[in-house]
Amino acid sequence: NTVAVLFGGRSSEHEISLRSAVFIFKNIPDKYNIIPVGINRNGIYYSLEGTFKAKDFLDITVQDLSEIIEGRSLIKIPDRKNIKSVILPHLAEEIAKDFDSFPYRILNLEASCFFPVLHGQNGEDGRLQGLFELAEVAYVGCDIRASVVGIDKDIAKRLARDAGISIAKYEVVVGEVYFKNQEETLINLERAIGYPCFVKPNSLGSAVGTGRAKNRLELQKLLIEALSFDQKVLVEEPMSGTEVECAFLGTSAFPKITLAGEIVTKDFYSYEEKYSNASEATSNIPAKIDSERMQELKTLAEKIAKATGISGLCRIDFWNCKTLNRFVFNEINTLPGLTSISMFPKLWEYEGILGNIWIEDIIEQAYA
Ligand code: DAL
Ligand code: MG
Repeated sequence: NTVAVLFGGRSSEHEISLRSAVFIFKNIPDKYNIIPVGINRNGIYYSLEGTFKAKDFLDITVQDLSEIIEGRSLIKIPDRKNIKSVILPHLAEEIAKDFDSFPYRILNLEASCFFPVLHGQNGEDGRLQGLFELAEVAYVGCDIRASVVGIDKDIAKRLARDAGISIAKYEVVVGEVYFKNQEETLINLERAIGYPCFVKPNSLGSAVGTGRAKNRLELQKLLIEALSFDQKVLVEEPMSGTEVECAFLGTSAFPKITLAGEIVTKDFYSYEEKYSNASEATSNIPAKIDSERMQELKTLAEKIAKATGISGLCRIDFWNCKTLNRFVFNEINTLPGLTSISMFPKLWEYEGILGNIWIEDIIEQAYA
């Protein structure tokens, strides 16, 4: 059982992926052989010759992974020249091996299963899943359709709404349209949403390109910023209250859902707040809500699982909205963050299910 673990990627969440991959390398059960595959920001794939075991990676760091990706631990593909350089501590004897920049080349790896530990574009958005489907190889996580739904916040919200679940009021701004009719678009947004409002790229994760506008000038600035990341941008009413998140394993027909965890932020849960040590955000596991409402939330998460068709792993995010006194669906994350401070592993840990258990679960599900 050889699993190719993919990390990095051509994505605005490249860094986060490295941190998530460290978790996977450290926790993947020893019964699997591992081929590490690093993808740099230009979409070039790197690997190390040979297969490894989790114990080879016990001390692995984000820095080690970026060295693989920078080609410093191995041979670079495009020019076919051997650039042997710094090798990972545990892999000193390994000869680096190269692959060219075409993703389909990864299918030549001696792997029976592919595990994309990739966030955002080109990894979590259905493209790679499409490649795996065409090649008929086993892969971990959501299928193409659920991945596409998950990456597109607008579509996910519509499915949630159709399933009878509350969503925040929002408008979609399309780049081409906005730049033709700025004045009119702004007036419409002010009428429909007003201030303050949140502006976020439709298909990015980790709050990249996201901000809060209190007036027209700020809205214009944030729209331009967000539209530089994505053709489609959401302008959304702010939610008062906390973020509550459930972790999912299994299939949409037989979902396993954790108790919700809760993130309490001062302002909004920005990229910095999510990942920096100086973060003022605090989390409660489980969330501080009474058991009846917790059950209600889990039921909503199950409905979302069915509506979106997720499988493998996912995190389902809501707001516990104080003013509306109800749960409001925010989004799903089909490859949730797995960093040392991320909710998904912690939520399962609270349920008594450690990383090695659920990693084996999702790999076995890929083979099934
Ligand atoms: N997109 C990040 C990784 C998350 O939702 O956890
Ligand atoms: Mg997300």
